[in-house]
This record gives sequence, C-alpha cells and structure tokens, in this order.
Amino acid sequence: MQNFITLSEIDSVVKMIKDQISIQPVAGIILGSGLNGLADSVQDAVRISYNDLPNFPVSTVHGHAGRFVIGYLEGKPVLVMQGRIHYYEGYTMGQVTLPVRVMQRLDIPSMIVTNAAGGVHPDFEPGDVMLITDQINLMGMSGLNPLMGPNLDEIGTRFPDMSQPYDRSYCELARQVAMDNGLTLREGVYAGLSGPSFESPADLRFLRMAGADAVGMSTVPEVIVARHGNMRVLGLSGISNKANLDGSTVTTHEEVIEAGKVITPKVEMIIRGVLRDLE
Ligand code: HPA
Repeated sequence: MQNFITLSEIDSVVKMIKDQISIQPVAGIILGSGLNGLADSVQDAVRISYNDLPNFPVSTVHGHAGRFVIGYLEGKPVLVMQGRIHYYEGYTMGQVTLPVRVMQRLDIPSMIVTNAAGGVHPDFEPGDVMLITDQINLMGMSGLNPLMGPNLDEIGTRFPDMSQPYDRSYCELARQVAMDNGLTLREGVYAGLSGPSFESPADLRFLRMAGADAVGMSTVPEVIVARHGNMRVLGLSGISNKANLDGSTVTTHEEVIEAGKVITPKVEMIIRGVLRDLE
C-alpha cells in the first residue's frame, strides 16, 4: 500500500518556498541526468535544498543535485529542479511527482521537462536532442500511475484526458528555435520504464515495435501529474546512447553523464529560445 501525498503536505512545501522567494515563476524546469548545468546560469538565484523541505524526497543518483533554483532565465522567472526524483530510488509515485504538485500550487502554468534517454529509433545518435511529441506510460500500464489513490479535486479531475500530453504550440516553438539556430531536432515518442536496470535487447525490440523512439526512467509520471493540473508541457530528451537491439554493446550510467556534456548546450539553447518567446 502506497502512502499518498495530501494537499496539506504539498502546501507545507509550497509555504516554505514562498517564504523565500519574491517572484512568480512562469515555468517549472526539470533537469535530467547529466543536464544539470542550466541551473547554474539562473540569475538572481535563490537555492532551496530538498533536504530543507518537509517530507521532500532527496535525489540519490550521481549526476543529480538536489535543490530548487529559483530566479531568471532569459528574463523570465523560472523554478528549476536541479536533480529529479526517480521511482527506482524507492520512492512512491506520489513522492516522485511531488515537485510537480508543488509547481501547481505555486500557480506555475508551464513545465519544461528534460531527460537522458536511450535512442530506440535507428537513426538517433548519442548527442541528439529529441522533442517529445507523445509518450508511452509503461509504468502505468503495469499499475503504477501517479494519480492512483484519492483524487486531489482542487487540482484536477479524477479521469484526466491525456490526448495532448505535450503542448502542440510549445512543440512548434521548439522546432522554430531549433531551426533558427541550425540545430537538428529529432522528434518522437518517449517510453517510460521504471529502471534502474537498462533494457535487454528483447525489451528494446518490443519497445520499437510498440512505437517508442526513445526510452528512459522518468518524465512520464511527471507529465501525467502536470496534465492532471492542466499545465502546458514541453519535453526534451537528450539521446545519451543508442539502444542495443542486438546485444552487441553495453550501456552504462557513465556514458549517460558523458553524453550530457554534448547535449546540455543544445537543450539549453532550446529552453532559452522557448522561454524568450513564452507569453
Ligand atoms: N535506457 C533507459 N534509460 C536511459 C537510457 C537507456 O538506454 N539512457 C539514458 N537513460
């Protein structure tokens, strides 16, 4: 039996954050493995460690710091999550998505979510950036939906629509930014698995047949919770490795972090461009 996060638990975190900031963020940004660098360029930053927030899960993964960074990017007030929480760390789905609930109770209307992912599409190469146009909720299909448990009626409906998890006009904006900057932007469907083991060759062939272009261990629960509260979402995957459909290569976390160095400036360019045009 899971412990479900209550509105008062969310609001106690929100209160502590509000007490320390004087701006209203317009976007919440979640940084994936190896993509933490962007948080360091936030201006006039207020940093709040997850450790200092009540009932807040702490990221245990190498390559993930554990704090909110609140300040300005491209002149827009943002709240950046430097370090995300993953289900495989042993947290509940409610804990994994608590940061998104916090964004919602802070009245943040948009979320930009990034991740490191394995490229399942045969044309994708390490270092590529993929605009996420849709997702496959494999965790949810096996009974791990973050909205299970009592519905938070103040935030959203019991049975939320999921026909447009990723906002079409944000996708268009990202394409435009990529084009203007001469950056090749891949596009596709992200499949979310629990991890922490990487996929077997048969897993990967299954995912490819199911329509996945990239695979990772995050993002999908966060996006479902974001959409429950009607946030508009932009999603970007940094392709850190090529899916090993025939078992001829091995995948390591070090490889994921290393690829992040090439991917970070590209993801940063798109996020900055999108923020600039955000109304
Ligand atoms: N599989 C799952 N998650 C990942 C991968 C992968 O190949 N690469 C980075 N995150």
